[in-house]
Amino acid sequence: MTHKIALIPGDGIGTAVVDAAMQVADKAAPGLLVPTRFDWSCDTYLKTGRMMPEDGIETLRGFDAIFLGAVGWPAKVPDAVSLHGLLLPIRKAFVQYANIRPHRLLPGVQGPLRKEGFDILCIRENTEGEYSGAGGRVHQGTANEVAVETAIFTRAGVERILRFGFEQAMRRSKRLASVTKSNAQKYSMVFWDEVTDQLAAEYLEVQVSHYHVDAIAARMVMAPETLDVIVASNLFGDILTDLGAAIQGGLGFAASANIDPTRANPSMFEPVHGSAPDIAHLGIANPIAAIWSLCMMLDHLNESAIAARIMRALEATTAQGFGTVPGRDKTETITAAILGALED
Ligand code: NAD
Ligand code: IPM
Ligand code: MN
Repeated sequence: MTHKIALIPGDGIGTAVVDAAMQVADKAAPGLLVPTRFDWSCDTYLKTGRMMPEDGIETLRGFDAIFLGAVGWPAKVPDAVSLHGLLLPIRKAFVQYANIRPHRLLPGVQGPLRKEGFDILCIRENTEGEYSGAGGRVHQGTANEVAVETAIFTRAGVERILRFGFEQAMRRSKRLASVTKSNAQKYSMVFWDEVTDQLAAEYLEVQVSHYHVDAIAARMVMAPETLDVIVASNLFGDILTDLGAAIQGGLGFAASANIDPTRANPSMFEPVHGSAPDIAHLGIANPIAAIWSLCMMLDHLNESAIAARIMRALEATTAQGFGTVPGRDKTETITAAILGALED
């Protein structure tokens, strides 16, 4: 069976890492993925005034999955315009409410903590909360200016992401860390804690820990091996997963899956990192995060054997040292090593 994939390389290093991932997919399983490329990016915005066409979401609906590189080039288009014109509407329109981000060290990678043995799965709420987009500004530019950004947490939204976290915990170590800031945020985060406790009564086997986001950030650095599944709101999950990326060796290693668990809509797979304008012209983007995201996509498409084969090739490549020293290896060198490892 083949799978129709919408490819959105986007901006900056997005193109290079998507190309690398597609070379790997072609080599591992020729013809399995049937990609259609959409050149939706900040350059598209400059030409057309839109990040994607008006019917972009309807176009994507016909695909089995979406594979995205990175969106944003702040020197050309303000981030709030480019991200709200492409990435964020896709997550929302396709109800990709679970953003799954694994953090562990690949063989041969020495993270900044100089410690091994952590394996964290961060589950980030991906459609509401602090990213709801509700708010506004009044008296703009005056001394009386006020800006309001309202975080919206619905029972349906909070319950489904927490339930997803509990289900993941059941499949792993049966430990769940629920993240809030309920000592300061007395409505939304107290509500989140209550829903966590309600679900805990259904999942009696799961050992639940409540952490404040500041405390768990410190714990991720000091004792990451004590954590397993983490479930957090949209913004807290965003911040904690760049921290997770850092402890696993850098943003070049952090993969993600934006999932609609109901499977009513296409899910989207993308590295955690952005377009990296500082290195985009150097040819040194690490493609591993994107290739790991490809493995997550293949798993989602029930191609687990191929996903596992690519993951083994990735691990064999990092074990040989390719991609493990930031900035040393070219994207094409790392990709060639992975293609070579697929032959073994
Ligand atoms: P970034 O993730 O692009 O870069 C942060 C740092 O990590 C930079 O020093 C960069 O060189 C490095 N880096 C990132 N990916 C790397 C890789 N694969 N290999 C080696 N080094 C890598 O974050 P930023 O600089 O804050 O954002 C740049 C643009 O990307 C902005 O427009 C931002 O909004 C956007 N962004 C998009 C996404 C996305 O599309 N999912 C994610 C994050 C940021
Ligand atoms: C991510 C990114 C996005 C987010 C930005 C670019 C809007 O940082 O995917 O982690 O905050 O979700
Ligand atoms: Mn982020």
